[in-house]
Amino acid sequence: MFEKLERLPADPILGLMAAYRDDPNPHKIDLGVGVYKDEQGNTPVLTSVKRAEEIILADENTKAYLPPTGSPDFTQAIQKLLFGENHPAFTAKRIATIQSPGGCGALRLGADFALRCNPEATVWVSDPTWANHIPLLGNAGLKLAKYPYYDSATHALKFDEMVSTLRQVKRGDLVLLHGCCHNPCGADLTKAQWQTLSEMAEQQGFVPYIDIAYQGFGKGLVEDAYGVRLMAERLPEVIVASSCSKNFGIYRERVGALSIVTDSPESAITSTTQAASIARGMYSMPPSHGAAAVSLVLNMPELHQQWQVELTDMRDRINAMRELLVEKLTMKNASQDFSFIQNQLGMFSFLGITTEQVHQLREQYSIYMVDSSRISIAGMNHTNIDYLTDSIIKIL
Ligand code: LMR
Repeated sequence: MFEKLERLPADPILGLMAAYRDDPNPHKIDLGVGVYKDEQGNTPVLTSVKRAEEIILADENTKAYLPPTGSPDFTQAIQKLLFGENHPAFTAKRIATIQSPGGCGALRLGADFALRCNPEATVWVSDPTWANHIPLLGNAGLKLAKYPYYDSATHALKFDEMVSTLRQVKRGDLVLLHGCCHNPCGADLTKAQWQTLSEMAEQQGFVPYIDIAYQGFGKGLVEDAYGVRLMAERLPEVIVASSCSKNFGIYRERVGALSIVTDSPESAITSTTQAASIARGMYSMPPSHGAAAVSLVLNMPELHQQWQVELTDMRDRINAMRELLVEKLTMKNASQDFSFIQNQLGMFSFLGITTEQVHQLREQYSIYMVDSSRISIAGMNHTNIDYLTDSIIKIL
């Protein structure tokens, strides 16, 4: 039976990791996958996380299973991080949070959960969106539709078009929103735009499904959660998939959470039982180690403080690289205006070049980015910025 299978091409984002690794060019630059790199091009384990891991290693006394919902210390800490301790949905205990294997695991759990609520549900995703949203949500069985989001000519949001498309969304459908640091375009909703969308959700009865994978990478932990907090305050039902991969630098440990905001504590308990049964039917229970480290970092004041400093360093470095890229390209008289990059947020922006030019950069200069020209800003540093900008000028 296996002979019927066709060999598939590499994943458009993950395939770049292998191509970059195998490239012998000493000047190669990786602007592909969204993994933070420091000024030396390394992705180190955060000191706060390392210290938490040391404590876990010394104190751990069992490897028995976690429940399908994960560790309560972790899920409580995540609720506080996402919503804030004084949030009315948090204090009213109307949020159900389930630990998941990464943000992807959360997205898939949330898709299955939504289908149990409404087997006919359509999820509306931004055009463009993170490529993996399509299989993660579509393979669960959700129908997919797109709403306009980013205008590649003006490098800005098409908010009016977005709103007029979303006017058609029906009660019981979902609208996937990027909580902050939009992947791939880096253009985020303003506070006023979040307000408008929350009013539309209230009037039309659709459920915002917020993917927040970069909390702390945009403007700050609280600022980046603005949309999540607003929606959870105004609306009876919201689904939030969050990831700890980037802000804790804990990618391979697969740590994420699904938070289901409901209209009552009773409904939160019911939702927990449903999500637990979905997890049990897919992978039984989540892995422990990474979430245990995150929960220690969030629950021990000293580690929490250290983590915030490390997170701020990562965010500041990314923003500094955005500025440096624009400054260098402008100084070198680039024939295109790249200034929009310094106003965008998070790990990614589109460079705004053609696929052919992306391939030229890859083949002639060993500079790796996704075909759409999405660049992972953290791949830049003071050592490679001149080679990068000189190469961009050459292919323009
Ligand atoms: C990315 O967009 O590069 C990251 O979220 C990693 C991934 O899994 O695609």
